[in-house]
Amino acid sequence: MCGSSTARLWLPTLAPEYDTADAGDELPADWADAAAAVACGRASRILVLGPADVGKTSFCRAMVRAVAPLRTIAVLDADVGQKMIGPPACVTLGRGEPDGRLTLTALAFVGTIDPVRGWTCVVAALPVLAEEADVGVTLVNTGGLLSGPGRRLKEAKIERLQPDLLIMLGDHPVLEALAGAYSSLPCLRLSVSPQARRKSDAERRRARGDAFRRYFDGAMTWTAEANELLKQDASARIPLRLLVGLRDERARDIGVGIVADIDASSERLRLLTPVLQHRVHSTCPGELVLDSKFREARICPDSIRISKN
Ligand SMILES: Nc1ncnc2c1ncn2[C@@H]1O[C@H](COP(=O)(O)OP(=O)(O)OP(=O)(O)O)[C@@H](O)[C@H]1O
Ligand SMILES: [Mg+2]
Repeated sequence: MCGSSTARLWLPTLAPEYDTADAGDELPADWADAAAAVACGRASRILVLGPADVGKTSFCRAMVRAVAPLRTIAVLDADVGQKMIGPPACVTLGRGEPDGRLTLTALAFVGTIDPVRGWTCVVAALPVLAEEADVGVTLVNTGGLLSGPGRRLKEAKIERLQPDLLIMLGDHPVLEALAGAYSSLPCLRLSVSPQARRKSDAERRRARGDAFRRYFDGAMTWTAEANELLKQDASARIPLRLLVGLRDERARDIGVGIVADIDASSERLRLLTPVLQHRVHSTCPGELVLDSKFREARICPDSIRISKN
């Protein structure tokens, strides 16, 4: 993807609502204090950082439930793998409802679940979606990659987003370094929930499959002229079941689809997606091929041009 504008007011998704109730009943005291401070305070763009599995997503859920009755809040989910809201391989935006649920309202297609390969798209999407959120508080959830390229990726996120509060969960040398490098930014350091536990690779893969399945639940297939939709020669090799981003006539990302069939002779393409056909103007290939149960079958890095940074 990349390069597309993402502003739109309505995302045609069949199951747009996401619960936040599994944030746990017994929150660490400092989490509850942080949520109360945000609910009654003025911070408007909050970036949540921390290593893997410390409870960043659980904290964001708890924050939405605490803040939503008092201030308008949105979650900008910058983690392209372990999604809090919407499909993987996308940066997503969810509007908090007063009862604490989140409604998926916008997304930017990244095309990969690898934050380093998707770097450019992820970082470019953040200010656009944050602007679009147009609420009192935008809470930005991130993935747990801090080491190696992770540090530079987090710096890029801070610089593009210009948050007015950093919230850091857990301990990690890169968190210390970021707190030092951005010492003019207010920073809340929070403990790791005693209930936080490590997710295995298999659990992570399963969670991505569940997130895709949920997005595609009730999706329909429709057929279109391949050349027109792909904006390239239909005979070019597009693997079956490739995940593609869908754009409207103004090149705004409005959803994702799966290539269900390509008939090179008739130059027709069948697409599985919850997005209605008349809204889709073009597609943008990702690198993930999903099986019939929406699990990752393989990665086709050649089908997508994702720049590293
Ligand atoms: N306060 C909590 N109550 C209940 N479960 C929790 C809590 N905090 C974390 N967990 C559990 O610990 C695991 C890791 O939490 P979570 O997914 O929120 O961490 P994360 O930092 O967002 O992970 P990632 O780096 O993958 O994004 C999850 O299974 C989650 O359900
Ligand atoms: Mg998370």
